[in-house]
Amino acid sequence: MQTVGIIGAGIMGAGIAQTVASKGMDVILSDVSVELAEKGKAGIAKGLSKLVAKEKLTQADADALLGRITPVGDYATMTKADLIIEAATEREDIKAKIFEAAGEVLGPDAILASNTSSIPITRMAAGSPDPTRFCGLHFFNPVPVMGLVEVIPGLATSQDTIDKMKAFGEALGKTVVIAGDAPGFVVNRILCPMLNEAIFVLGEGLASVEDIDAGCKIGLNHPMGPLTLCDFVGLDTLYEIMKVFHATTGDPKYRPAPLLQKYVEAGWYGRKSGKGFYDYSGEKPVPSR
Ligand code: 3HC
Repeated sequence: MQTVGIIGAGIMGAGIAQTVASKGMDVILSDVSVELAEKGKAGIAKGLSKLVAKEKLTQADADALLGRITPVGDYATMTKADLIIEAATEREDIKAKIFEAAGEVLGPDAILASNTSSIPITRMAAGSPDPTRFCGLHFFNPVPVMGLVEVIPGLATSQDTIDKMKAFGEALGKTVVIAGDAPGFVVNRILCPMLNEAIFVLGEGLASVEDIDAGCKIGLNHPMGPLTLCDFVGLDTLYEIMKVFHATTGDPKYRPAPLLQKYVEAGWYGRKSGKGFYDYSGEKPVPSR
């Protein structure tokens, strides 16, 4: 891969862009406006300056990395991309419109991949220009740090596409696992019900925000407690994921916790909105209530 188009310059899209550019590939980073794509690139620059300050990266390497990322407000230049990765909001209607528009610029040998957290790949591939060249490619937040990528073939995905996506993940320095096409694939299928359950535990008043997090962080040796991780992933994203699990399987064990819905309705999305289970407006996060 020499040129990678990335659709969506939010937390995941920007993280993927940074990782891809750090390996010497060119990135075309798009969002609904060029201003939002530039905002995504500015966030990458801010993160890189911290690495420069910690002497983990030279200023010259940071500048070269940023020089490989071109923010755009439309997909016109993605005709030259070998791979287009969709990393937009976790809503199927939004993604469907993107696949239709991306299909118009997708090169004859290029691959279209989705960084969806939960939506079935086969279903989305059916609305793509060529389902044999459509694949799930699931990264983890923060993308530059997390060592895993899931490759999720749909029913029609060709072996050539699977091989290319596996090689691409490995070229990024990640461990690649091939996951089956069921809601949440492998890792989110296990993680998201656990996060949702932590919210049920909070809603039932069984323990405080801090004690739930301390319990799992210390008792399970996890790097973050589940409610901190919910804020990190984004409560809006988790809510959409649980709704997909619930609607696709019909299994009530996946129903979103009522408190999750309430927080989302309040606009308490976690770190990205400044408040979720914790309030991030001060120097240190404190429980919101
Ligand atoms: N680029 C490059 N390096 C970065 C970076 C970035 N954007 N951000 C952080 N780093 C580096 C730091 O420099 C540091 O490096 P060092 O160890 O060599 O000093 C290292 O990453 C750790 O960063 P920090 O010291 O700032 O922070 P912590 O040690 O507290 O670790 C964490 C932060 C890696 C986020 C850790 O808390 C963690 O692993 N949390 C769990 C994250 C997780 O579970 N992610 C998956 C979420 S689920 C998901 O994404 C799927 C989705 O579909 C829902």
